[in-house]
Amino acid sequence: MTKIPTLTLVGAGPGDPDLISVKGVKALQKADIVLYDALVSTELLNYAPVNVQKIFVGKRAGIYTTPQTDINTMIVAYAKQYGNVVRLKGGDPFVFGRGHEEIDFAKAAGLATVVIPGMSSITAIPTSLGFPLTKRGINESFWVVTGTTRTEELSKDLYLAIQASSTIVILMGLSKITDIVRVFTSAKKEHTPIAVIQEGTLATQKIAISTIAEIEKTIQVREISTPAIMIIGEVVNQHPDAWVNKISTQMWIDACNSGCSGMTCDF
Ligand SMILES: C[S@@+](CC[C@H](N)C(=O)[O-])C[C@H]1O[C@@H](n2cnc3c(N)ncnc32)[C@H](O)[C@@H]1O
Repeated sequence: MTKIPTLTLVGAGPGDPDLISVKGVKALQKADIVLYDALVSTELLNYAPVNVQKIFVGKRAGIYTTPQTDINTMIVAYAKQYGNVVRLKGGDPFVFGRGHEEIDFAKAAGLATVVIPGMSSITAIPTSLGFPLTKRGINESFWVVTGTTRTEELSKDLYLAIQASSTIVILMGLSKITDIVRVFTSAKKEHTPIAVIQEGTLATQKIAISTIAEIEKTIQVREISTPAIMIIGEVVNQHPDAWVNKISTQMWIDACNSGCSGMTCDF
């Protein structure tokens, strides 16, 4: 039976392989070929049949290993050759993931398309760590802002978000931390609590908690690198341990220097 050339876009979740959906797993089991991104756990590839090719097409820290135009072309060529191309993308495929561009391209080439949502890092990481993005009486919304736009700049939407009482979540912002601090400081919000989490939901997860004024130092001490997500706002103080309330940043830094790691830190 001839297979219908299909693109199945699957959200892999935030990192922990157990956080993919059941529907995502079933799609992988039916894959004829898999193209996967950098933030995807390679453990998930085990759900695809053994004889199926699994091709890495990701990027790391802004360095593209495979240009998007090549990925689009590969999707169409492989779908015509093999049938069902499963495109496994980190988090949710329609959140800062160029997933919709791939769907547009595939549809224009006559492919059938299926989209399976994923758990985005935006909500999964804060929730898994005990940070509520919203809390009654504290805020009424949360904003999600990119730290790196198409032109590699900090999004101007941050200037709007900062005017509200909202929690602000910043993705792809670590390389712009100095600019982010400047924006908050100019708005006299340098005492706002912030948490920066690297490799959230994974065993390698690291976290830096501080205020905007001191976060650059804390990031340095904790040796936080990409991929990282930032949670900014009063909700950071709502963490059960409420570190920002209980201890000074210097105490946090001293404790971290003496060997405690991430959320297992207990003062
Ligand atoms: C290109 S965006 C893709 C977002 C993804 N589609 C999602 O819904 O989570 C990649 C950025 O998401 C954030 N991110 C994704 N997974 C992460 C993780 N496990 N830990 C920390 N940050 C993560 C980082 O800011 C990273 O630079």
